[in-house]
Amino acid sequence: MKVSLRNRLFLAFVSVIVIVGLLCTVLGVGLIHYTMPRIQEEVRLDLNSAREIYQEHIAHVSDVVRLTALRIFLKEGLSRGDVDGLLAPLVEARERESLDLLNLTDAQGDLLLKARNPEERGQTEAARQIVEKALSEKRVVASTVVFAGEDLLKEDDELAELARIEVVPTPHARSNPDVDDLAGMFLLAAAPIFDDEGELLGVLYGGELLNGRYDYVDKVRDDIYGQEKYRGREVGVVTVFLGEKRIATNAVTPTGERAIGTLVSEEVYRRVLVEGKSWTERAFAVNDWYLTAYEPICDPSGTPVGILGLGLLERKFKDMERKALWIFLAVTFGGLAVSTATCFFLARTIMRPITSLVRATKNLARGNLQERVELDRAPPEIAVLGKAFNTMVASIRERDEQLQQQTQEELMRSDRLAMIGQLAAGVAHEINNPLGSILLFSRLLLQQAPREGVMRENLHRIEKETKRCHTIVQSLLEFARQREPQVELLHVNGILDSTVQLFESQFLFHNIEVVRDYQPDLPQVRADPAQVQQVFMNIIINAADAMKGKGTLTITTRSADADKQVVISISDTGCGIPPEDIERIFDPFFTTKGVGHGTGLGLSLSYGIIQRHGGSLRVNSEVGVGTTFVAVLPASEEEQ
Ligand SMILES: Nc1ncnc2c1ncn2[C@@H]1O[C@H](COP(=O)(O)OP(=O)(O)OP(=O)(O)O)[C@@H](O)[C@H]1O
Ligand SMILES: [Mg+2]
Repeated sequence: MKVSLRNRLFLAFVSVIVIVGLLCTVLGVGLIHYTMPRIQEEVRLDLNSAREIYQEHIAHVSDVVRLTALRIFLKEGLSRGDVDGLLAPLVEARERESLDLLNLTDAQGDLLLKARNPEERGQTEAARQIVEKALSEKRVVASTVVFAGEDLLKEDDELAELARIEVVPTPHARSNPDVDDLAGMFLLAAAPIFDDEGELLGVLYGGELLNGRYDYVDKVRDDIYGQEKYRGREVGVVTVFLGEKRIATNAVTPTGERAIGTLVSEEVYRRVLVEGKSWTERAFAVNDWYLTAYEPICDPSGTPVGILGLGLLERKFKDMERKALWIFLAVTFGGLAVSTATCFFLARTIMRPITSLVRATKNLARGNLQERVELDRAPPEIAVLGKAFNTMVASIRERDEQLQQQTQEELMRSDRLAMIGQLAAGVAHEINNPLGSILLFSRLLLQQAPREGVMRENLHRIEKETKRCHTIVQSLLEFARQREPQVELLHVNGILDSTVQLFESQFLFHNIEVVRDYQPDLPQVRADPAQVQQVFMNIIINAADAMKGKGTLTITTRSADADKQVVISISDTGCGIPPEDIERIFDPFFTTKGVGHGTGLGLSLSYGIIQRHGGSLRVNSEVGVGTTFVAVLPASEEEQ
């Protein structure tokens, strides 16, 4: 299938635009995709800040407990063994410092007093660990500590109730876990108490419950993400897990409540709580996907007991990604539509002058020589093409007219020649025999005439003039007979040379310089050597006559039309032919030479000969400058 130039142009434009558009889209999408891992990395770094704030929180609890342990009433009361007397100031200290728990042990770690609930006795297992650590290391120890539900009940019913968070099922969360609803997670600090001699008197330990307390998560959220919301949801989410259960978070459930009691996903649970490693990937939390970072929270023995987690709402970035993609696609396809229309008009505009040129060429081919194209407003290259086309048409028209005129002239000349030929042949035939008789009888009379005297002289004159008439009649007959040429392969250069040689020695040529400009490898022609030589002789004699024996005769031979023609031109520097005579020089009997000097048959004979050889004979002349006869003969097509 052939595609038109206009469509090709159009397709070329459009394909460039499509390629560029697609490239932009791919690049844009790639760029957006590249940003996701970077955001994920940011979340990982944010987790460091969250951890720091968590540590500060522990340090704060540690300071409060340490400073309380340094108070005099404790030292003195313990030294005295007055435990009951310590209750009131301890209760007051707990309330002032807003601690959820404040307990006192003796130097062995056995419980002496509980400031929150003086009735309850008995050391809890979780607290024992941190107390023993403070006793053995003789310094303040602070850590995250998880109290099992039954331990909390031992501390205080009300505290256990405060810590109670029941499991709320959500999609993608761990299923069927064995979760203790009453378990509580504390930031706990234990400070040893010494007397003035440095003797260990006991340990004061206390701390804050994390269950259902949001000041930490909100502070981290504010510090890192601010209050930014996306479609009613917090973009940044901070969560503290007790085991796999959310106990403090700013993530919300679909009903808009804090999503405490919901559980972490199975894979995060395994990675962080079971294996004790951190997690930095996308994860499903509560009811959405987040770009998250989780790390374990460990108790004093280094066992993971909870999780600190951060998440950035993935949907916001996905939406941004999708929006960017749509924008890219819209820009690409919008651009494509606009540029396709532009290309279409552009291709049409570019093609319009070419189309009109094609139409004009077709009309020209059909023979309409009046065809013209108006391309002045087209691009310069095409305008030049248009001008060239118009010039070409004009010159074809001119040539056509010239050719027509020439053909007509030649036709007329041929007609004239044929007519005169017939007439001359008739007359010559009639005159020939009487002339023969005149010649015969004048010779007989001459034989009988006296040797001297006017009579012999007159008879001589009769014989001479009759001979001349005979010659004229002979050439007339020759002219009329138009003998068919006896063709053979000829070297034109050779024929020309031998013709010139015939004359060179003659008196008329003594002061004529002959210049030969032959093409050495001239193709041969098929022609009658005698006739061709006759033509050259006629032309050369005429030239010598015109130069009155003095001047330059230039003979040139060339091949033309890809060796299909041989062109012979013979120029002289003679008097030239006036324009009014040019038309007639090929006519029989046209001569400017005086009576008895020329018959006027030379050129008409030559013309006929060349024509019968399938060639042409033309003349160019300028009065006072010279004359050039150009004979064109078809070259032989045989192997030469
Ligand atoms: N080279 C030339 N320069 C000037 N005039 C020429 C030349 N050749 C031909 N003519 C003119 O053309 C006329 C016709 O020439 P053409 O050869 O037919 O006859 P002619 O030379 O006059 O007589 P003939 O050739 O029969 O002796 C000439 O009389 C002459 O006026
Ligand atoms: Mg002549």
